[in-house]
Amino acid sequence: MRVNHKKLKKIVVFSSGAGSNAEKIISYFKKVSDVCISVVYTNNPAAGVLKKAKNHGVKTRVFSAQEYQKEVLKELLSIDPAIIVLAGFLWKIPKNYIDNFPNKIINIHPSLLPKYGGNGMYGNNVFKEVFKNKEELTGITIHYIDEKFDTGPIIFQAQVKLLPKDDVTEIANKTRQLEHKFFSAQIHKLIR
Ligand code: GAR
Repeated sequence: MRVNHKKLKKIVVFSSGAGSNAEKIISYFKKVSDVCISVVYTNNPAAGVLKKAKNHGVKTRVFSAQEYQKEVLKELLSIDPAIIVLAGFLWKIPKNYIDNFPNKIINIHPSLLPKYGGNGMYGNNVFKEVFKNKEELTGITIHYIDEKFDTGPIIFQAQVKLLPKDDVTEIANKTRQLEHKFFSAQIHKLIR
């Protein structure tokens, strides 16, 4: 029998939508023996992430706004995750979560913050603004969560050049590629 002396590190993922990043993270950590994805949490019962997580045999949990106040936090405390990853999660993180998990909640944002961050700046809204402003460069930011939207300390950024012919869809594609390339490895680095 193989004895694993290393403590299993747990990752909790929060996602509100399609879950392409969550799926990449799940696939990446399937190959890492001392890390597991405990639960994928979502506020959205119709989120694509639910099917993706289930296909990989990962536990999912849909929660209501009311459960978000106390119940979900209680569950997180009992899981005791090494890191809480927001991968396309659109609700604000309450202060009591941040207080209980200092430097353990990280978010990915599809722009080079501080550009194109803040309330309402998510998904396509970001890419439309990047397009409108004819940016020649865009990218991704991985950062710690604080009490505001998209202002916490930056952990990692990666950038990509845009061409004059790039439309909103192409900007989204290029940004998504960066997210899929870098996010899981950055999470791994943080919990190692
Ligand atoms: C990602 O592009 C992520 O950066 C963005 O939502 C998308 C989720 O896609 N997050 C934000 O805009 C947060 N402000 P996914 O569900 O396919 O991973």
